[in-house]
Amino acid sequence: METAVTGTTESTAAAADLDGYVHGYSEREARRLGDQADTLAELLHHGTAYPPGSRVLEVGCGVGAQTVRLAESSPGARIVAVDTSEESLAQARARVEAHRPGAPRAEVEWHRADLFDLPFADAEFDHVFVCFVLEHLRDPERALAGLRRLLRPGGTLTVIEGDHGSAFFHPASAYAHAAIDCQVRLQSAAGGDALIGRRLQPLLSGAGYDGVEVRPRTVYADRTRPSLVDGFTRNTFTAMIESVREEAMAAGLSTPADWDRGIADLHRTAADGGTFHYTFFKAHAVNGASGANGANGANRVEGANAAGPSAV
Ligand SMILES: C[S@@+](CC[C@H](N)C(=O)[O-])C[C@H]1O[C@@H](n2cnc3c(N)ncnc32)[C@H](O)[C@@H]1O
Repeated sequence: METAVTGTTESTAAAADLDGYVHGYSEREARRLGDQADTLAELLHHGTAYPPGSRVLEVGCGVGAQTVRLAESSPGARIVAVDTSEESLAQARARVEAHRPGAPRAEVEWHRADLFDLPFADAEFDHVFVCFVLEHLRDPERALAGLRRLLRPGGTLTVIEGDHGSAFFHPASAYAHAAIDCQVRLQSAAGGDALIGRRLQPLLSGAGYDGVEVRPRTVYADRTRPSLVDGFTRNTFTAMIESVREEAMAAGLSTPADWDRGIADLHRTAADGGTFHYTFFKAHAVNGASGANGANGANRVEGANAAGPSAV
């Protein structure tokens, strides 16, 4: 199917207060999100494919780094991608249009809207996909409950989040951990939670989903995996920590000398002899409003047959 990227529509409620969004909307951040998605595509998207004809909502699509993967892995699906940032949506649309022109992929519609106030009817979607968004929200459980309303009974939710507490590396460095902690504290001060991965199961259950399954997806990089060292350790994780330097200084969370030492030590984990570990968490859940139990056509967390038990 040819991609049909329709016009962006705008919800009146799209003016959400995202001043505190810790990563910002710079060109550098757009590149980082692209690097992250490209490097981790197989790790994060393995097991996620939506059947032809299904209607999929992606909230917080950003610059479309994950939308490209969804469109590619579910060529017959119809994807509705939402974000509050008009600029990110424009980049997302361009990214999807430019990706492997001519290859089969899903139709994508773009909407500027706040996920807490989406302009869609109850039960309008078969599947919802959320990646690296809940970590920025003050009330992720309320967001999840609201998204459940948009799922048909038996429809599924897929959530992917990281957890900065899972970062460990060699050579060990208290300075590097302190720099990471600055990012965690800044995100927390902005109302988010950079350690949210470990909370996904209780969050999804609390939001009323059934059949909640959460599984770790681990990245481990050393010199034998140079593309992960570059794509993840350097260009995704270290770049993300580096980007909050000014905010960390302004908040008095670090000194220039300590910060620079921490960042230099993170870079050492990407050099010869260095190693880096990080864990993402991928959750799958069902809107069991009708008592359905997940036999809805979407793959499970580990890509097991949707009609059978999850391979966990
Ligand atoms: C870290 S980016 C992740 C983008 C994309 N999902 C990815 O994985 O590359 C988070 C995105 O969520 C969006 N976002 C944050 N709060 C939102 C809200 N209330 N409604 C819609 N989008 C939101 C931001 O604008 C940003 O584009």
